Amino acid sequence: MFRILKRDLLGPHLLQYTVEAPEIAKAARAGQYVIVRAEKGGERIPLVLTDFDPAAGSISFLCRPLGPVTQYLERFFENDELPEISGPFGNPAPIEAGLSYAVIGGGMGALMSYPIARALREQNCAVDLLLGFHNKSQVVLEEQFRSACDHFFCCTDDGSYGQKGMVSRFLENRLDTGVRYDRIYMLGPIVMMKFVSHVGKRHGIKTIMSMNPIMMDGTGMCGGCELLLNGKKVFACQDGPDFDASQVDFDALLRDSAGYRDYERHPHDDACHLLRKALPR
Ligand code: FES
Repeated sequence: MFRILKRDLLGPHLLQYTVEAPEIAKAARAGQYVIVRAEKGGERIPLVLTDFDPAAGSISFLCRPLGPVTQYLERFFENDELPEISGPFGNPAPIEAGLSYAVIGGGMGALMSYPIARALREQNCAVDLLLGFHNKSQVVLEEQFRSACDHFFCCTDDGSYGQKGMVSRFLENRLDTGVRYDRIYMLGPIVMMKFVSHVGKRHGIKTIMSMNPIMMDGTGMCGGCELLLNGKKVFACQDGPDFDASQVDFDALLRDSAGYRDYERHPHDDACHLLRKALPR
């Protein structure tokens, strides 16, 4: 059993749980995920680690209670116990020590960028964190993000906080004014990652994408995280979640993501069932 140490309401429909899981905390690396089962015999859902602390023996992950499984998880409070958490799973984020990185995050992906930025800093990398949200109400944990980077920038679609506009445009403007990065690491919606990937290509910067924010069952069975890498089928949950963006077929990924619409309305619920229905195999 895994005791809940903290339950933070970060915003409407957004919770962060911090759970006692010493073995997982010890083994965890930035970019990895765990699989949580909130109900005995219930569905297992992959949740990206948004933090882990080996000294405290704790891990953290986000929960958006928008469907039955995550709404069930939402009923857990401090000191309640979750029956099953396994992991960590997925390959750790590839980090090249001493380089300068722009870490780009959008939406839920933005909220998953903290352990990546922290791990980069631990490897003596210079880190600029550029996060994009719809509006000010979604900007949370800013202090934590600032603590993990050299420069923090926030973009909102409506300009209600930080810079107005898309984070990919903001990145491009910075590069056009002479700011230089050795690497770009991005995680967020596919369309955002496609634009950022173009920016990276135009400026000759190796760009790594994380498929973490769009994983579903984490088992390699639902096909929801499938992508074409140099024309070859791979699964984010098994082969990734990080890939060289220049090798990714974003058009195929966006085409397939049309099949996610039902899923996006019911994230983490009956994921396999919805995807089997939605994706022609
Ligand atoms: S999340 Fe990778 S196959 Fe289902």
